[in-house]
Amino acid sequence: MKTWTANVLTLFPEAYPGILGMSVLGKALERRLWKLNLIDIKNFSKKNHKVDDIPFGGGTGMVIKPDVLDGALSSIKNKKFPIYYLTPRGTKFSQKIAEKMSKHDGATFLCGRYEGVDQRFIDHYKLIEISIGDYILSGGDLPTMVVLDSIIRLLPEVISNKNALDEESFKNHLLEYPLYTQPRSWKNLDVPEVLLSGNHKKIKDWKIKQSEDITKLRRPDLWKKYLKSK
Ligand SMILES: C[S@@+](CC[C@H](N)C(=O)[O-])C[C@H]1O[C@@H](n2cnc3c(N)ncnc32)[C@H](O)[C@@H]1O
Repeated sequence: MKTWTANVLTLFPEAYPGILGMSVLGKALERRLWKLNLIDIKNFSKKNHKVDDIPFGGGTGMVIKPDVLDGALSSIKNKKFPIYYLTPRGTKFSQKIAEKMSKHDGATFLCGRYEGVDQRFIDHYKLIEISIGDYILSGGDLPTMVVLDSIIRLLPEVISNKNALDEESFKNHLLEYPLYTQPRSWKNLDVPEVLLSGNHKKIKDWKIKQSEDITKLRRPDLWKKYLKSK
C-alpha cells in the first residue's frame, strides 16, 4: 500500500503533528497510511537562524527570503509532488480540491509567516496558492493542518466506514441533515419520529428533504449547483 507523503516547510516543526497525531488521523499516521516529513526552514539560514528581511519599497513587517526557502525546498528528496503555498491570496480551499489532492501520492506545503514570502520564490517554483478563507492568520501552519486533515481522512483505509464520507456535507452540493442520538427525549425535546420508525425509505427521504431545506436556506450558492446537477 502507498503512503501518502506530506512535506511541510515550516518555521515551527515542533507544532507537528499536533492535532493531526490524534484520533483517526493519528492512528493512520501510526499505520503509515500517511507520512509527515518536516523541514525546518531555519536550518537553511546562513546567519543565526535569520530567515527574513525588510521588504524592498518599504511597508510593514518582514518577508521570508527566497534563498533560505530554496535551500529548504532543495533538501526534499521526493520532488515530484505539487507544491502549495498557503496564503490568503490563494484559491479558496474546498472539499473538491481536497479530493483532488488526495488522489496524488503526496504534496509539499510551504507555511508562510510575517508578511509572507518573496514573490520570486513563488514565481520560480510555480507554487499553487491556496487560501483557507477570507481572514488573516499569523502563519501558514494552521492552514496546512486544516488542508492536511481534510485530505488524510479521504485516503483509502483511514476511515473504515466508507458510507460516512458519502453522507457528509458538500457531497452532491448538499449540507448534512440534522443528527440525533440517545437519549430519545432530552429537556422535553424528542428525536423526530421518522428516525425511530425503522422504515428505511421514509428515513432516507426525510434526510434528503432536511438536507435540501438547510442548503436552500443557508447556502443559495450550493443550492443552485444542486438544482443544476439533478
Ligand atoms: C500574517 S499572514 C500574511 C498576510 C499577508 N501579508 C496578506 O496580507 O495577505 C502570514 C502567513 O500566514 C498564512 N496565512 C494567513 N492567513 C491565511 C489564510 N486565510 N489562508 C492560508 N494561509 C494563511 C500565510 O502563509 C501567510 O504568509
